[in-house]
Amino acid sequence: MIHQNRQKELLSKLDDNALIIISTNPEQFRNGDVTFAFRPHSDFFYLTGFDEPEAVAVISRSHYAMFLRDKDPAREIWDGERLGLENASAALKLNKAFDIKTINNQLSQLINNNSVVYFDAKPCDFDTQITNLLAKYTIKSLKEPLHEMRLIKDESEIKTMQKAADISTIAHQHAMQYVTPGMLECELQSVFDAQFVKNKSEHAYTPIVAGGKNACILHYIKNNQVLIDGDLVLIDAGCEFDNYASDITRVFPVNGRFSDPQKSIYQIVLDAQLAAIECIKPGVSVHEPHKIACAIIQQGLESLGLLAPGEPLSKFYMHGTGHWLGMDVHDVGTYQHNKQHRLFEKGMVITVEPGIYIRKDDKINPIYNDIGIRIEDDVLVTETGHNVLTGNLIKTINDIEALMNKN
Ligand code: GLY
Ligand code: MN
Ligand code: MN
Repeated sequence: MIHQNRQKELLSKLDDNALIIISTNPEQFRNGDVTFAFRPHSDFFYLTGFDEPEAVAVISRSHYAMFLRDKDPAREIWDGERLGLENASAALKLNKAFDIKTINNQLSQLINNNSVVYFDAKPCDFDTQITNLLAKYTIKSLKEPLHEMRLIKDESEIKTMQKAADISTIAHQHAMQYVTPGMLECELQSVFDAQFVKNKSEHAYTPIVAGGKNACILHYIKNNQVLIDGDLVLIDAGCEFDNYASDITRVFPVNGRFSDPQKSIYQIVLDAQLAAIECIKPGVSVHEPHKIACAIIQQGLESLGLLAPGEPLSKFYMHGTGHWLGMDVHDVGTYQHNKQHRLFEKGMVITVEPGIYIRKDDKINPIYNDIGIRIEDDVLVTETGHNVLTGNLIKTINDIEALMNKN
């Protein structure tokens, strides 16, 4: 029922004669005839719950149809079972199921003269083909109303996101206990690979396992260097469970003990992150966590002499403090309304992830060279405040050192 209810809610925000046409992702080839594991398009899955490739839903107030692959015993030997046309109507609660191979002839028959067609083409051959079929209609975008719905998570989505957060939390804890100097970054990554796969999940994004100065490369994904005694390691890794993401960053010392300079930078980031999380509740501007984090980091770096009073922070902190989280790791939904920062509402989930990245630079005290720190948690906005979905994962210096040095 959940998908039908979402369809109804979406239609209630559209024109009277709205006709939604929505397709899923194409299969992606990795090389030769080998494909990546299939991942449905988030918008499509949110509205239909159907997770096979080559599918197009057509939804109006009076009709719900799906174009999909029919059964093919020969192909199913290779690729696995398909739902097929005969089962689709009952399983997906359709009025009619069509063979995807007939879309060229059949799609226009589902469109009335007075239909207002909503369709957002993805950059893929299949959607280009649908765009061509719709050439004579005026097309409207679904994005704004649909993404506004996806931004506010319901109970079942929150439960799934909590599960994703819990799986990732355990992986980060295992990594803190597993690391030793001399290990390769990718060996440490294997803790996450194993934990995610064991729990029927996968990486929600390419993980970052960055020792020492690699942590100052914001999108470092090579993960192939040796972890050095005395360095920190930054891990930004989160799983996707049932198509919902988690997104966590922790930083800890490769040898289990922070040095004093590492401690001072880490504590500034942690103070900034805790204060930024603390402000989150309905009615507060979504820009507030960034404002608070920047003020604390600015003051902290000035007090260490790394920034002159009033010197721009962007040298050491050059990214935002968070983003929406949901089916996509950088989830849909706007951050502004009428050019004003919007306000937090119950059911939104946002990451809070301030950082400080100090590249080697002749002008700064060398004890701070090559320290890269980010601390990231996933925060649900509740009726009266917030709930940190990843709140079970330790992050104070004392707690990290205690866990890493436990026998
Ligand atoms: N892991 C992606 C991000 O933190 O935005
Ligand atoms: Mn993030
Ligand atoms: Mn992240």
